[in-house]
Amino acid sequence: LTKIAVLTSGGDSPGMNAAIRAVVRNAAYSGLKCDGVYRGYQGLIENEFIELGPRDVKNTINRGGTFLKSARSKGFMTKEGRQKAYDNLMARDVDALVVIGGDGTFKGASIFSKEFDIPIIGIPGTIDNDINGTDYTIGYDTALNTVVEAIDKIRDTASSHDRLFLVEVMGRDAGDIALNSGIGAGAEEILIPEEDMGIERLLESLDKSRKAGKTSSIVVVSEGDQIGKNIAEVADSIQTRLPDYEVKVTVLGHIQRGGSPSCFDRVLASRLGVGAVDALLEGYSNIMVGIEHKKIVYVPFETAINIKKELDKDLIRVSDIVSS
Ligand code: F6P
Repeated sequence: LTKIAVLTSGGDSPGMNAAIRAVVRNAAYSGLKCDGVYRGYQGLIENEFIELGPRDVKNTINRGGTFLKSARSKGFMTKEGRQKAYDNLMARDVDALVVIGGDGTFKGASIFSKEFDIPIIGIPGTIDNDINGTDYTIGYDTALNTVVEAIDKIRDTASSHDRLFLVEVMGRDAGDIALNSGIGAGAEEILIPEEDMGIERLLESLDKSRKAGKTSSIVVVSEGDQIGKNIAEVADSIQTRLPDYEVKVTVLGHIQRGGSPSCFDRVLASRLGVGAVDALLEGYSNIMVGIEHKKIVYVPFETAINIKKELDKDLIRVSDIVSS
């Protein structure tokens, strides 16, 4: 092993820069050369490489987004695209690849690594925290803090006007962001894809709280929740059933993906970035470097991608109790 390349792919997340930095610096520390690839797999196909040394990643640990940029590449889903990517890697004498991203990124890596027999290590970077085999993904903690800060602000105005706010948060089909930010921000109810509460139970619960003296309320709705066709429909149902409440909707959107990474995410990204290069040096391939019970673990891509990560169901009970 003499030269590696690193890229970020899929939706960006705060802390990706810190992970790139750790990969680049552990490569140099271990006597390896390192290239960065722009725009994820798309840059592999379009031959967008840049040499990266330890000083090239200065002042990046604190920056959100990814300075290597990211993309969801359609070309890499085709055999021709992957062939081009491989040819470009070989032309630059790259022996192994580190990819930072979510499940789509790992799916691409798994196919590519088998097709061309090139060692690939994945680092979980997504705000969704939906990757099996790791307790945390890079960016999740920062996104949670962004959401809680936003909901705290919404609570101020909700309370002043005695309103009920539905706040939609990201997470794709995972409820981790909703459940944890909901508890952290003191939400009345939390709607997640993993547990179908049903509109009736929601309406009854809100009605009960209203009668018990609550004048304003926050309901956190995960974007993947199936309770209604969309959040506007849920808002309409509540408004019709509880005319005393004035119902408002806030969709937090991409604000959740930006911002300076939290210290937790910087440390996590540093550990996983160092771990990815260590794994390559130990001869591993086709695995994700994750973290479980504070320890670095190596997880086969198949396990990370194909098994749905379990939600901590105890949190649902905690939420029910603390919001009563
Ligand atoms: O996977 C991260 C994520 O932010 C999801 O929470 C969300 O569903 C999706 O990406 C949005 O993707 P895009 O930025 O491409 O619209």
